[in-house]
Amino acid sequence: MSHAGIFITLEGVEGAGKSTAVAGVAAWFSQRGCVVECSREPGGTPLAESMRQILLTPTAEALAEPAELMLLFAARAQHVAHRIKPALAAGKVLICDRFTDSSRAYQGAGRGMDQSLIETLATAAEQGLEPNLTLLLDLPVAEGLARAAARRGLSAHDRFERESADFFERIRAEFLHLAAQHPRFAVIDAAAPLVAVQAQIHAVLQARFPLIAALPLGAHHG
Ligand code: TYD
Repeated sequence: MSHAGIFITLEGVEGAGKSTAVAGVAAWFSQRGCVVECSREPGGTPLAESMRQILLTPTAEALAEPAELMLLFAARAQHVAHRIKPALAAGKVLICDRFTDSSRAYQGAGRGMDQSLIETLATAAEQGLEPNLTLLLDLPVAEGLARAAARRGLSAHDRFERESADFFERIRAEFLHLAAQHPRFAVIDAAAPLVAVQAQIHAVLQARFPLIAALPLGAHHG
């Protein structure tokens, strides 16, 4: 029997700890017997990952802003149609590192691109899909950038990591603004120590998915 799955997205500036959080959310659901898939944007299918390469790799020929925006949404349309929707139709929990809110924050607030164009492209790419929960991992920009630099070591910046602190301040502010507007968001204090971050995430999952939270650990759900 196929039934509606659960779609969870994670958002935040660079260095917020999204990958660790994705793993924590995945473990919470799988321990309760849910079938979980983790993905990321831009990317998530072979074609969308090819588009990711173009989006992240600095090249001699600059990527024009509208090209960046449309390529992000082309990758998203591919991901929604060929990975996210099929997983949800199969009753799975699909956890995604970034989704459309990143376009609102990075391309809209960061680059100053037209938000109504972003919403038009979102409608076309998402085909009615909306996250059941969006975890915003929030922390001061300076701290996020310091963590991202430590993680990167000597490897080169990608196209986004080359941006200024001011660019990331606009992105953080936009994420917080979106979180205040949409009840699907939960804001996590990502500057806290790792165990405290995990505890906040568990509390949100418990509150938003009480039926799943009540399942005994190791149960089989479905
Ligand atoms: P990634 O290496 O995954 O960054 P992070 O680890 O910080 O998530 O690269 C994704 C980059 O793409 C990141 O800098 C944010 C950017 N991005 C956008 O600008 N718009 C979008 O819609 C998405 C999904 C990502």
